[in-house]
Amino acid sequence: MYKPELYKTHTSITNHQELKDRVKADKLFYPKIHLAPEYGLLNDPNGLAFYNGEFQIFYQYHPNQPAHGMKNWFHVTTKDFITYTHRGIILFPEQDYENYGIFSGNAKLEGEYLRLNYTANYRNPDKDYQREPKQCYALMDKNYQIVKKGIISEFLDQKYTEHFRDPYVTADDATVIGAQLLNGIGALSIIENNHERTIEMSNELSSAYMLECPNYIEIDNHPLLILSPQGINNDKYLNINSVVWMETMLRDKIDANPHLLDYGFDLYAPQVFKHDERVLMLSWLGHADTIYPNEQEYGWSQTMSLMRELTFKDGHLYQQPIAEYQALRQEVKKLACTEAISRVYEVDCKISNNGVIKIGDVDHYIEIKLDNGILTLDRSRMNYSVNANYGYVRSINLEVATTSLQIFVDNSTLEIYINDGEYVMSSRIFLNNLGIVQLTNTEGKYYELDPITIINQEVDNV
Ligand code: FRU
Repeated sequence: MYKPELYKTHTSITNHQELKDRVKADKLFYPKIHLAPEYGLLNDPNGLAFYNGEFQIFYQYHPNQPAHGMKNWFHVTTKDFITYTHRGIILFPEQDYENYGIFSGNAKLEGEYLRLNYTANYRNPDKDYQREPKQCYALMDKNYQIVKKGIISEFLDQKYTEHFRDPYVTADDATVIGAQLLNGIGALSIIENNHERTIEMSNELSSAYMLECPNYIEIDNHPLLILSPQGINNDKYLNINSVVWMETMLRDKIDANPHLLDYGFDLYAPQVFKHDERVLMLSWLGHADTIYPNEQEYGWSQTMSLMRELTFKDGHLYQQPIAEYQALRQEVKKLACTEAISRVYEVDCKISNNGVIKIGDVDHYIEIKLDNGILTLDRSRMNYSVNANYGYVRSINLEVATTSLQIFVDNSTLEIYINDGEYVMSSRIFLNNLGIVQLTNTEGKYYELDPITIINQEVDNV
Protein backbone atom coordinates (compact mmCIF):
# COMPACT_ATOMS: atom_id res chain seq x y z
CA MET A 1 0.00 0.00 0.00
CA TYR A 2 1.22 3.50 -0.87
CA LYS A 3 2.02 5.36 2.36
CA PRO A 4 3.98 8.53 1.53
CA GLU A 5 5.14 8.95 5.14
CA LEU A 6 7.25 5.79 4.82
CA TYR A 7 9.02 7.04 1.70
CA LYS A 8 11.83 8.97 3.34
CA THR A 9 15.43 8.46 2.23
CA HIS A 10 17.77 6.60 4.57
CA THR A 11 19.81 9.77 5.18
CA SER A 12 16.80 11.79 6.35
CA ILE A 13 16.09 9.60 9.39
CA THR A 14 18.04 9.63 12.64
CA ASN A 15 16.31 7.06 14.85
CA HIS A 16 18.69 4.23 13.98
CA GLN A 17 20.24 4.01 17.45
CA GLU A 18 16.79 3.66 18.96
CA LEU A 19 16.01 0.82 16.51
CA LYS A 20 19.38 -0.84 17.29
CA ASP A 21 18.59 -0.76 21.02
CA ARG A 22 15.25 -2.41 20.36
CA VAL A 23 16.94 -5.16 18.32
CA LYS A 24 19.32 -5.82 21.23
CA ALA A 25 16.33 -6.38 23.50
CA ASP A 26 15.16 -9.28 21.33
CA LYS A 27 16.46 -12.41 23.05
CA LEU A 28 14.02 -14.78 21.35
CA PHE A 29 13.49 -14.27 17.66
CA TYR A 30 16.50 -12.63 15.98
CA PRO A 31 18.16 -15.39 13.91
CA LYS A 32 21.73 -16.58 14.50
CA ILE A 33 22.56 -18.45 11.28
CA HIS A 34 20.31 -16.60 8.83
CA LEU A 35 20.92 -13.11 7.46
CA ALA A 36 18.62 -10.54 9.01
CA PRO A 37 18.67 -6.74 9.04
CA GLU A 38 20.76 -5.11 11.72
CA TYR A 39 17.59 -3.02 12.21
CA GLY A 40 14.66 -2.06 9.96
CA LEU A 41 13.31 -4.43 7.32
CA LEU A 42 14.75 -6.62 4.59
CA ASN A 43 13.02 -8.48 1.81
CA ASP A 44 14.16 -9.93 -1.55
CA PRO A 45 17.75 -11.07 -2.13
CA ASN A 46 19.28 -9.13 -5.02
CA GLY A 47 22.44 -9.13 -7.14
CA LEU A 48 23.84 -12.52 -6.05
CA ALA A 49 27.23 -13.30 -7.58
CA PHE A 50 30.76 -14.43 -6.94
CA TYR A 51 32.99 -11.43 -7.69
CA ASN A 52 36.25 -10.02 -6.38
CA GLY A 53 37.09 -13.29 -4.62
CA GLU A 54 33.94 -13.30 -2.50
CA PHE A 55 30.24 -13.94 -2.68
CA GLN A 56 28.22 -10.78 -3.17
CA ILE A 57 24.82 -10.66 -1.53
CA PHE A 58 22.50 -7.69 -1.66
CA TYR A 59 18.99 -7.34 -0.34
CA GLN A 60 16.05 -5.00 -0.38
CA TYR A 61 16.39 -2.86 2.69
CA HIS A 62 14.38 -0.21 4.51
CA PRO A 63 16.38 1.00 7.53
CA ASN A 64 14.00 3.64 8.83
CA GLN A 65 11.41 1.32 10.37
CA PRO A 66 10.72 -2.41 10.62
CA ALA A 67 8.14 -1.96 7.86
CA HIS A 68 8.11 -1.73 4.06
CA GLY A 69 8.96 1.74 2.75
CA MET A 70 11.68 3.40 0.68
CA LYS A 71 13.83 0.50 -0.58
CA ASN A 72 17.62 0.46 -1.00
CA TRP A 73 20.09 -2.33 -1.76
CA PHE A 74 22.10 -3.38 1.30
CA HIS A 75 25.46 -5.05 0.55
CA VAL A 76 26.91 -8.10 2.34
CA THR A 77 29.95 -10.14 1.31
CA THR A 78 31.23 -13.52 2.44
CA LYS A 79 33.89 -16.00 1.41
CA ASP A 80 32.52 -19.02 3.25
CA PHE A 81 28.89 -18.34 4.30
CA ILE A 82 30.05 -18.43 7.93
CA THR A 83 31.65 -14.99 8.31
CA TYR A 84 29.92 -12.08 6.63
CA THR A 85 30.83 -8.43 6.19
CA HIS A 86 28.00 -5.90 6.28
CA ARG A 87 29.02 -3.18 3.85
CA GLY A 88 26.00 -0.92 4.19
CA ILE A 89 23.56 0.59 1.73
CA ILE A 90 25.09 0.62 -1.72
CA LEU A 91 22.23 1.51 -4.07
CA PHE A 92 19.82 4.20 -2.92
CA PRO A 93 17.55 6.74 -4.62
CA GLU A 94 19.58 9.63 -6.04
CA GLN A 95 18.08 10.37 -9.44
CA ASP A 96 14.62 11.88 -9.94
CA TYR A 97 13.56 8.69 -11.71
CA GLU A 98 14.45 6.65 -8.58
CA ASN A 99 12.26 8.76 -6.29
CA TYR A 100 10.33 5.91 -4.62
CA GLY A 101 13.09 3.39 -4.14
CA ILE A 102 15.49 0.94 -5.73
CA PHE A 103 13.69 -2.33 -6.36
CA SER A 104 14.95 -5.86 -7.05
CA GLY A 105 17.19 -7.26 -9.78
CA ASN A 106 20.16 -9.56 -10.31
CA ALA A 107 23.88 -9.22 -11.09
CA LYS A 108 26.12 -10.26 -13.96
CA LEU A 109 29.85 -10.02 -14.53
CA GLU A 110 30.65 -7.36 -17.14
CA GLY A 111 34.34 -7.10 -17.89
CA GLU A 112 36.05 -6.13 -14.65
CA TYR A 113 32.78 -4.88 -13.13
CA LEU A 114 29.77 -6.44 -11.53
CA ARG A 115 26.69 -5.17 -13.31
CA LEU A 116 23.77 -4.62 -10.91
CA ASN A 117 20.37 -4.72 -12.62
CA TYR A 118 17.50 -3.07 -10.77
CA THR A 119 14.14 -1.38 -11.10
CA ALA A 120 13.83 2.30 -10.30
CA ASN A 121 10.44 2.64 -8.60
CA TYR A 122 9.55 5.99 -10.12
CA ARG A 123 6.32 7.75 -9.22
CA ASN A 124 5.40 10.61 -11.50
CA PRO A 125 4.64 13.79 -9.50
CA ASP A 126 2.91 15.26 -12.56
CA LYS A 127 0.53 12.34 -12.72
CA ASP A 128 -0.66 12.11 -9.14
CA TYR A 129 2.33 9.94 -8.23
CA GLN A 130 1.32 7.21 -10.64
CA ARG A 131 4.00 4.48 -10.65
CA GLU A 132 6.15 4.35 -13.81
CA PRO A 133 8.92 1.83 -13.11
CA LYS A 134 12.14 1.92 -15.11
CA GLN A 135 14.66 -0.86 -15.61
CA CYS A 136 18.18 0.38 -14.86
CA TYR A 137 21.67 -0.82 -14.16
CA ALA A 138 24.80 0.25 -12.31
CA LEU A 139 28.39 -0.98 -12.44
CA MET A 140 30.22 -1.88 -9.24
CA ASP A 141 34.02 -2.08 -9.19
CA LYS A 142 36.34 -4.12 -6.98
CA ASN A 143 36.53 -1.31 -4.44
CA TYR A 144 32.75 -1.53 -4.20
CA GLN A 145 32.28 1.85 -5.82
CA ILE A 146 29.16 2.33 -7.89
CA VAL A 147 28.54 4.14 -11.16
CA LYS A 148 24.90 4.33 -12.19
CA LYS A 149 24.46 3.80 -15.92
CA GLY A 150 20.84 4.86 -16.27
CA ILE A 151 17.69 3.42 -17.79
CA ILE A 152 17.65 0.48 -20.22
CA SER A 153 13.94 0.53 -20.88
CA GLU A 154 11.25 3.09 -20.22
CA PHE A 155 7.82 2.24 -18.93
CA LEU A 156 6.23 0.15 -21.69
CA ASP A 157 2.79 1.55 -21.03
CA GLN A 158 1.27 0.34 -24.29
CA LYS A 159 1.68 -3.26 -23.13
CA TYR A 160 2.08 -3.38 -19.36
CA THR A 161 0.61 -1.75 -16.28
CA GLU A 162 2.64 -0.17 -13.48
CA HIS A 163 3.64 -3.72 -12.39
CA PHE A 164 6.81 -4.09 -14.41
CA ARG A 165 9.95 -4.87 -12.41
CA ASP A 166 12.73 -7.19 -11.19
CA PRO A 167 15.11 -7.57 -14.19
CA TYR A 168 17.08 -10.83 -14.33
CA VAL A 169 19.84 -10.81 -16.96
CA THR A 170 20.50 -14.40 -18.06
CA ALA A 171 23.77 -16.09 -19.08
CA ASP A 172 22.79 -15.32 -22.71
CA ASP A 173 22.18 -11.64 -21.93
CA ALA A 174 18.41 -11.74 -22.21
CA THR A 175 16.75 -9.44 -19.64
CA VAL A 176 13.68 -11.15 -18.15
CA ILE A 177 11.29 -8.79 -16.34
CA GLY A 178 8.21 -9.54 -14.24
CA ALA A 179 5.15 -7.81 -15.68
CA GLN A 180 1.40 -7.41 -15.72
CA LEU A 181 -0.39 -7.16 -19.07
CA LEU A 182 -2.98 -4.40 -19.55
CA ASN A 183 -5.71 -7.02 -19.07
CA GLY A 184 -4.44 -7.64 -15.52
CA ILE A 185 -2.71 -10.99 -16.19
CA GLY A 186 0.86 -11.74 -15.09
CA ALA A 187 3.46 -12.20 -17.85
CA LEU A 188 7.17 -11.84 -18.53
CA SER A 189 8.81 -9.23 -20.71
CA ILE A 190 12.05 -10.25 -22.41
CA ILE A 191 14.52 -7.78 -23.86
CA GLU A 192 17.05 -9.44 -26.15
CA ASN A 193 19.22 -7.75 -28.80
CA ASN A 194 17.23 -4.50 -28.35
CA HIS A 195 13.99 -6.31 -29.12
CA GLU A 196 11.20 -6.65 -26.54
CA ARG A 197 8.67 -9.48 -26.50
CA THR A 198 6.12 -10.89 -24.09
CA ILE A 199 6.00 -14.38 -22.63
CA GLU A 200 2.59 -15.52 -21.47
CA MET A 201 1.67 -18.49 -19.30
CA SER A 202 -0.80 -20.94 -20.77
CA ASN A 203 -0.71 -23.14 -17.67
CA GLU A 204 -2.27 -22.60 -14.23
CA LEU A 205 -0.15 -19.47 -13.76
CA SER A 206 -2.40 -17.66 -16.24
CA SER A 207 -4.59 -16.73 -13.26
CA ALA A 208 -1.75 -14.84 -11.52
CA TYR A 209 -2.05 -11.06 -11.68
CA MET A 210 1.71 -10.57 -11.57
CA LEU A 211 4.85 -12.70 -11.90
CA GLU A 212 7.47 -11.18 -9.62
CA CYS A 213 11.20 -11.90 -9.44
CA PRO A 214 11.83 -14.14 -12.48
CA ASN A 215 14.99 -16.30 -12.63
CA TYR A 216 16.19 -18.26 -15.63
CA ILE A 217 19.26 -20.52 -15.43
CA GLU A 218 20.50 -23.84 -16.78
CA ILE A 219 21.40 -26.70 -14.45
CA ASP A 220 23.12 -29.62 -16.21
CA ASN A 221 21.34 -28.74 -19.47
CA HIS A 222 17.97 -28.43 -17.72
CA PRO A 223 16.45 -24.97 -18.40
CA LEU A 224 14.96 -23.76 -15.14
CA LEU A 225 12.47 -20.92 -14.73
CA ILE A 226 11.61 -19.81 -11.19
CA LEU A 227 8.82 -17.27 -10.67
CA SER A 228 7.00 -15.69 -7.75
CA PRO A 229 3.36 -15.47 -8.93
CA GLN A 230 0.92 -13.24 -7.07
CA GLY A 231 -2.79 -13.75 -6.71
CA ILE A 232 -3.30 -17.51 -7.10
CA ASN A 233 -5.02 -18.95 -4.05
CA ASN A 234 -6.47 -22.46 -4.16
CA ASP A 235 -5.81 -25.93 -2.71
CA LYS A 236 -2.31 -25.94 -4.17
CA TYR A 237 -1.34 -22.28 -3.71
CA LEU A 238 -2.11 -21.74 -0.03
CA ASN A 239 0.10 -18.77 0.87
CA ILE A 240 -0.53 -15.09 0.09
CA ASN A 241 1.94 -15.42 -2.79
CA SER A 242 3.79 -18.50 -4.00
CA VAL A 243 6.98 -19.56 -5.73
CA VAL A 244 7.10 -22.08 -8.56
CA TRP A 245 9.76 -23.79 -10.64
CA MET A 246 9.32 -25.10 -14.17
CA GLU A 247 11.65 -26.98 -16.46
CA THR A 248 11.18 -24.90 -19.59
CA MET A 249 12.89 -22.74 -22.17
CA LEU A 250 11.71 -19.14 -22.55
CA ARG A 251 9.05 -19.77 -25.21
CA ASP A 252 6.41 -17.17 -26.09
CA LYS A 253 3.75 -19.32 -24.43
CA ILE A 254 4.81 -21.45 -21.50
CA ASP A 255 2.69 -24.48 -20.71
CA ALA A 256 5.17 -26.43 -18.52
CA ASN A 257 3.82 -27.82 -15.28
CA PRO A 258 4.56 -25.45 -12.36
CA HIS A 259 5.87 -27.16 -9.20
CA LEU A 260 5.79 -25.43 -5.83
CA LEU A 261 9.34 -24.55 -4.84
CA ASP A 262 8.56 -24.68 -1.12
CA TYR A 263 5.73 -26.36 0.77
CA GLY A 264 5.94 -24.32 3.98
CA PHE A 265 4.36 -21.03 4.97
CA ASP A 266 6.97 -18.35 4.37
CA LEU A 267 9.32 -18.27 1.41
CA TYR A 268 9.29 -15.80 -1.45
CA ALA A 269 11.28 -14.01 -4.15
CA PRO A 270 14.23 -16.46 -4.42
CA GLN A 271 17.20 -15.60 -6.58
CA VAL A 272 19.56 -18.11 -8.21
CA PHE A 273 23.07 -17.72 -9.53
CA LYS A 274 25.95 -19.90 -10.67
CA HIS A 275 29.42 -20.16 -9.20
CA ASP A 276 31.77 -22.67 -10.80
CA GLU A 277 29.41 -25.54 -11.45
CA ARG A 278 27.20 -24.91 -8.43
CA VAL A 279 23.77 -23.29 -8.74
CA LEU A 280 22.93 -21.51 -5.50
CA MET A 281 19.68 -19.97 -4.32
CA LEU A 282 18.81 -17.53 -1.55
CA SER A 283 15.23 -16.56 -0.67
CA TRP A 284 13.32 -14.18 1.52
CA LEU A 285 11.64 -16.11 4.37
CA GLY A 286 8.63 -13.86 4.35
CA HIS A 287 5.68 -12.39 2.52
CA ALA A 288 4.39 -8.97 1.65
CA ASP A 289 1.36 -7.76 3.62
CA THR A 290 2.37 -9.84 6.64
CA ILE A 291 3.32 -8.41 9.99
CA TYR A 292 5.35 -10.98 11.89
CA PRO A 293 4.80 -11.02 15.68
CA ASN A 294 7.04 -8.87 17.86
CA GLU A 295 9.19 -7.59 15.06
CA GLN A 296 7.67 -4.11 15.18
CA GLU A 297 8.44 -3.96 18.88
CA TYR A 298 11.96 -5.31 18.42
CA GLY A 299 12.97 -2.85 15.71
CA TRP A 300 13.74 -5.39 12.97
CA SER A 301 11.68 -7.40 10.55
CA GLN A 302 12.20 -10.36 8.22
CA THR A 303 15.01 -12.80 7.49
CA MET A 304 16.62 -14.61 4.58
CA SER A 305 16.56 -18.39 4.10
CA LEU A 306 19.70 -20.46 4.29
CA MET A 307 21.70 -20.56 1.04
CA ARG A 308 20.67 -23.67 -0.90
CA GLU A 309 22.35 -25.64 -3.66
CA LEU A 310 20.08 -26.70 -6.54
CA THR A 311 20.45 -29.91 -8.56
CA PHE A 312 18.24 -31.88 -10.96
CA LYS A 313 17.57 -35.57 -10.40
CA ASP A 314 15.04 -37.61 -12.40
CA GLY A 315 13.36 -34.47 -13.73
CA HIS A 316 12.92 -33.00 -10.24
CA LEU A 317 14.57 -29.98 -8.67
CA TYR A 318 16.38 -30.74 -5.40
CA GLN A 319 17.35 -28.07 -2.85
CA GLN A 320 19.92 -28.72 -0.14
CA PRO A 321 21.46 -26.43 2.42
CA ILE A 322 25.00 -25.70 1.24
CA ALA A 323 27.64 -27.97 2.78
CA GLU A 324 29.47 -24.93 4.24
CA TYR A 325 26.96 -24.80 7.10
CA GLN A 326 28.35 -28.08 8.47
CA ALA A 327 31.17 -25.98 9.94
CA LEU A 328 28.60 -24.52 12.37
CA ARG A 329 27.90 -27.91 13.97
CA GLN A 330 28.86 -28.53 17.59
CA GLU A 331 29.23 -32.12 18.79
CA VAL A 332 26.82 -34.70 17.44
CA LYS A 333 24.16 -36.00 19.85
CA LYS A 334 21.63 -38.80 19.62
CA LEU A 335 18.18 -37.41 18.95
CA ALA A 336 16.06 -37.51 22.12
CA CYS A 337 13.38 -35.41 23.74
CA THR A 338 15.18 -32.54 25.45
CA GLU A 339 14.33 -29.16 26.81
CA ALA A 340 18.01 -28.50 27.42
CA ILE A 341 18.80 -27.37 23.93
CA SER A 342 19.78 -24.02 22.52
CA ARG A 343 17.42 -22.19 20.18
CA VAL A 344 19.65 -22.89 17.16
CA TYR A 345 20.09 -26.48 16.04
CA GLU A 346 19.98 -29.02 13.23
CA VAL A 347 18.18 -32.38 13.39
CA ASP A 348 19.02 -35.17 10.91
CA CYS A 349 16.55 -38.00 11.24
CA LYS A 350 14.32 -40.62 9.67
CA ILE A 351 10.61 -40.39 10.33
CA SER A 352 8.34 -43.38 9.72
CA ASN A 353 4.61 -43.82 9.38
CA ASN A 354 2.70 -42.32 12.35
CA GLY A 355 5.88 -40.47 13.25
CA VAL A 356 5.63 -37.17 15.14
CA ILE A 357 8.18 -34.48 16.05
CA LYS A 358 7.05 -31.66 18.32
CA ILE A 359 9.20 -28.59 18.90
CA GLY A 360 8.32 -26.06 21.61
CA ASP A 361 6.94 -26.93 25.04
CA VAL A 362 3.95 -28.99 26.12
CA ASP A 363 1.47 -26.17 25.53
CA HIS A 364 2.95 -24.35 22.57
CA TYR A 365 4.69 -26.12 19.73
CA ILE A 366 4.90 -26.86 16.05
CA GLU A 367 4.22 -30.39 14.94
CA ILE A 368 5.77 -32.36 12.07
CA LYS A 369 3.94 -35.60 11.32
CA LEU A 370 4.06 -38.43 8.77
CA ASP A 371 0.71 -40.12 8.42
CA ASN A 372 -0.24 -42.48 5.57
CA GLY A 373 2.53 -41.09 3.42
CA ILE A 374 1.47 -37.47 4.02
CA LEU A 375 3.97 -35.19 5.71
CA THR A 376 2.33 -32.35 7.62
CA LEU A 377 3.63 -29.21 9.29
CA ASP A 378 1.16 -27.70 11.77
CA ARG A 379 1.82 -24.33 13.37
CA SER A 380 -1.59 -23.81 15.00
CA ARG A 381 -0.18 -24.08 18.54
CA MET A 382 2.55 -21.43 18.50
CA ASN A 383 2.76 -18.73 21.21
CA TYR A 384 2.12 -16.09 18.53
CA SER A 385 0.18 -16.83 15.38
CA VAL A 386 1.08 -15.65 11.88
CA ASN A 387 -1.19 -15.19 8.85
CA ALA A 388 -4.02 -17.14 10.48
CA ASN A 389 -6.29 -16.33 7.52
CA TYR A 390 -4.11 -18.52 5.35
CA GLY A 391 -4.41 -21.62 7.54
CA TYR A 392 -2.13 -23.37 10.00
CA VAL A 393 -1.33 -26.62 8.19
CA ARG A 394 0.80 -27.40 5.15
CA SER A 395 1.31 -30.92 3.80
CA ILE A 396 2.91 -32.95 1.02
CA ASN A 397 1.77 -36.34 -0.17
CA LEU A 398 5.11 -38.17 -0.26
CA GLU A 399 3.51 -41.59 -0.70
CA VAL A 400 6.26 -43.21 1.37
CA ALA A 401 6.30 -45.07 4.69
CA THR A 402 9.52 -43.47 5.82
CA THR A 403 11.62 -40.47 4.79
CA SER A 404 14.67 -38.49 5.87
CA LEU A 405 14.36 -35.00 7.34
CA GLN A 406 17.07 -32.41 7.86
CA ILE A 407 15.57 -29.71 10.07
CA PHE A 408 17.11 -26.33 10.90
CA VAL A 409 15.68 -24.43 13.86
CA ASP A 410 17.00 -20.89 14.28
CA ASN A 411 15.11 -18.79 16.86
CA SER A 412 12.18 -17.82 14.62
CA THR A 413 12.89 -19.83 11.49
CA LEU A 414 12.33 -23.44 10.54
CA GLU A 415 13.55 -25.15 7.37
CA ILE A 416 12.74 -28.81 6.75
CA TYR A 417 14.64 -30.53 3.91
CA ILE A 418 12.79 -33.72 3.02
CA ASN A 419 14.36 -36.80 1.39
CA ASP A 420 17.70 -35.09 0.67
CA GLY A 421 16.05 -31.93 -0.58
CA GLU A 422 13.39 -33.41 -2.87
CA TYR A 423 10.96 -31.09 -1.08
CA VAL A 424 11.41 -28.26 1.40
CA MET A 425 9.08 -26.64 3.93
CA SER A 426 10.20 -23.23 5.22
CA SER A 427 8.44 -21.22 7.88
CA ARG A 428 8.75 -18.50 10.41
CA ILE A 429 7.96 -19.84 13.88
CA PHE A 430 7.20 -17.86 17.02
CA LEU A 431 7.70 -20.00 20.13
CA ASN A 432 8.96 -19.00 23.56
CA ASN A 433 10.57 -22.44 23.96
CA LEU A 434 12.22 -24.54 21.31
CA GLY A 435 12.79 -27.86 23.07
CA ILE A 436 12.19 -31.20 21.38
CA VAL A 437 9.13 -32.31 23.32
CA GLN A 438 7.89 -35.33 21.40
CA LEU A 439 9.51 -37.90 19.15
CA THR A 440 7.47 -40.81 17.88
CA ASN A 441 8.73 -43.25 15.22
CA THR A 442 11.66 -40.92 14.61
CA GLU A 443 15.36 -41.67 14.98
CA GLY A 444 18.50 -39.75 14.29
CA LYS A 445 20.94 -37.20 15.62
CA TYR A 446 21.14 -33.49 16.28
CA TYR A 447 23.74 -30.75 16.54
CA GLU A 448 23.52 -27.43 18.29
CA LEU A 449 24.87 -24.80 15.90
CA ASP A 450 27.32 -21.95 16.35
CA PRO A 451 26.15 -18.55 15.11
CA ILE A 452 27.45 -17.02 11.90
CA THR A 453 29.75 -14.04 12.40
CA ILE A 454 28.85 -10.59 11.14
CA ILE A 455 31.61 -8.02 10.73
CA ASN A 456 30.17 -4.57 10.61
CA GLN A 457 31.95 -2.38 8.14
CA GLU A 458 29.01 -0.19 7.49
CA VAL A 459 30.16 2.93 5.81
CA ASP A 460 28.73 6.11 7.25
CA ASN A 461 25.82 6.23 4.90
CA VAL A 462 23.16 5.14 7.36
C1 FRU B 1 8.94 -8.85 -4.26
C2 FRU B 1 8.96 -7.36 -4.56
C3 FRU B 1 9.56 -7.09 -5.92
C4 FRU B 1 10.04 -5.68 -5.79
C5 FRU B 1 10.51 -5.63 -4.34
C6 FRU B 1 10.30 -4.33 -3.65
O1 FRU B 1 8.92 -9.11 -2.90
O2 FRU B 1 7.65 -6.83 -4.48
O3 FRU B 1 8.66 -7.32 -6.99
O4 FRU B 1 11.07 -5.38 -6.68
O5 FRU B 1 9.79 -6.65 -3.67
O6 FRU B 1 10.89 -4.35 -2.39
